[in-house]
Amino acid sequence: MGIATGSNAERAPDEQVMLRRLLPPGEPATAQQIADQLELSATEHSPPARPYVLLNMISTADGRASIEGRSRPLGDRADRELFHALRSAVDAVMAGAGTVRTERYGPIIREDGPRRLRRERGRSEQPLACIVSGRLALPADLPLLADPDARVAIITASPASLTGAAAQIEYVRAERHGSLDLPRALAELHERFAVRSLLCEGGPHLNSHLLAAALVQRHVGVALPAPLGVPVGLAVADEQQGGHR
Ligand SMILES: NC(=O)c1ccc[n+]([C@@H]2O[C@H](COP(=O)([O-])OP(=O)(O)OC[C@H]3O[C@@H](n4cnc5c(N)ncnc54)[C@H](OP(=O)(O)O)[C@@H]3O)[C@@H](O)[C@H]2O)c1
Repeated sequence: MGIATGSNAERAPDEQVMLRRLLPPGEPATAQQIADQLELSATEHSPPARPYVLLNMISTADGRASIEGRSRPLGDRADRELFHALRSAVDAVMAGAGTVRTERYGPIIREDGPRRLRRERGRSEQPLACIVSGRLALPADLPLLADPDARVAIITASPASLTGAAAQIEYVRAERHGSLDLPRALAELHERFAVRSLLCEGGPHLNSHLLAAALVQRHVGVALPAPLGVPVGLAVADEQQGGHR
């Protein structure tokens, strides 16, 4: 288990945000260095035939995951740098349909630099975007779905398909007793799409299902003093070591 703090309020825009692991104590590191450490960990600790699952969330100390329906007001520069660095270090990024709709998901990696870095490391430029949905009520004009270059996996128990989306869409249909079988869906991502590391960005509904099924290897969480304020801590926790949020 590790905990790191990052404070950025007074930093110049070109100054790198440094994060510090608290448990166990670690040297200050940039978001990219923390993401690189996670990448190594994923290689070492992936469960057999399923991706290594990393869950990233920000919440207030009293447990709120959004302010007026959006998570962005909770974050700051340190959180955002880590958010993007984690995206650049994984094979797939997954979110529930509620989050994708509310946050209006677009391309997962927008900047040239991280895309180039992925190419240099032998990865595709973009992680596979995975949307977990029951009803498939996903508007075709969502920026991610309207992008013909986007590769999107819809993870669902439903036999239905989306219409009108320009993105390259694949379906991972894993149904069991009328509900989504998440372990089977993750195994299919591993087998069909070679997903070895998967970042889950929430929201709370999807997270609760993943955690209940013991499918998360690591949590990264930023906690804010309730109800809002300056970030006080960023926790990185290994499920294998007893878990901690
Ligand atoms: N603070 C943070 O770090 C953070 C991160 C992410 C999101 N958020 C916030 O959280 C809010 C959304 O919360 P939420 O809990 O509704 O989000 P969510 O988990 O992203 O979305 C819930 C929806 O995802 C689908 N889904 C999730 N798990 C499923 C399962 N096991 N089987 C089938 N479908 C499943 C269903 O989609 P269908 O409705 O299509 O059937 C369900 O209605 C937004 O306000 C967002 O801004 C905060």
